Amino acid sequence: MTNAPAPGKIILFGEHAVVYGRPAIAVPVFQVHADATIQAHDDDRVMIEAVNLARRYALEDAPTDDPLAAIIRLTCARLGSVPKNFSVRIQSTIPVGGGLGSGAAVSVAIARALGKHFAIESIEDIEKKKINSMLSMSSMAGLSNADISALAYEVEKLHHGTPSGIDNTVIAFEQPVYFIKDKPIESFRVARPFTLAIADTGIAAPTKIAVGDVRRAWEQDRARYEALFDRVGKVVDKARAAIESGQVERLGYLMNDNQALLREMGVSSPEIERLILAAKTAGARGAKLSGAGRGGNVICLTDEVTQDAVERALVKAGAKRVIVTQVGGRQ
Ligand code: MEV
Repeated sequence: MTNAPAPGKIILFGEHAVVYGRPAIAVPVFQVHADATIQAHDDDRVMIEAVNLARRYALEDAPTDDPLAAIIRLTCARLGSVPKNFSVRIQSTIPVGGGLGSGAAVSVAIARALGKHFAIESIEDIEKKKINSMLSMSSMAGLSNADISALAYEVEKLHHGTPSGIDNTVIAFEQPVYFIKDKPIESFRVARPFTLAIADTGIAAPTKIAVGDVRRAWEQDRARYEALFDRVGKVVDKARAAIESGQVERLGYLMNDNQALLREMGVSSPEIERLILAAKTAGARGAKLSGAGRGGNVICLTDEVTQDAVERALVKAGAKRVIVTQVGGRQ
């Protein structure tokens, strides 16, 4: 039996504009995770068990756009292995449609677990049967973070047509990233740790819808949206500089600036704005939506002094769950 976890993620700055080539910053969130388990069995079929959906089905019966079947097929093809004689069990504590990367985390956990499963199998085969086939050699090499990210990216395209790739990247590499589509990823130094309250509006909002709406709006008024994306890109670069130089106070202002631009893009919502207002009234130095918006999660910059009051205010304003996470330092 092999297991692999994958964390959730939040986008600190730059969502949506990142789809159009501007930079964005994201960090993993380890308090929520997807966990995949691969179990070998004698049955030829591959069985998929999606615990959260209370579903169990055979790979061969799954439609081509089933994301769980897709990551299994893609990963086995990448490893040069035939998908048979195992079951995949996946469960997750990451809310679906919450902007915390649930889809990418599920794909990353499964790809990582399968990589380990086939690496172990091929080593056992070589030891037992003294074989040295190409198939075993490629499986034995396992999968790098970059391989896993690339596989998960293929599945992200099923979730929504034009993903930037930031979700699969930050989740597969499990480290803060400064990300520009189709460019090598950059990590960065967090000079002074800072604390975020992540508050769930309780509204599941599929990424596909918000991303599709922004695309339609961009198609109708390219000049306006390109200008908005440029302004987001500038905020992201200032935020990176603030994080790298430990100017945490500045981050709050920049989060507010980014939220104003997201609002102009049309991806905020009354529930998001209510949580933001509650957090800021209780002392948060900045707050914004994180991910695709329209629902999902809001992130609020807090500190030791304001943290309890902000958490209480968020719950009172209707947050379904609040996770407190530290960026930099101990996660
Ligand atoms: C989703 O977590 C972030 C978006 O920017 C979409 C993407 O980057 O693919 C909204």
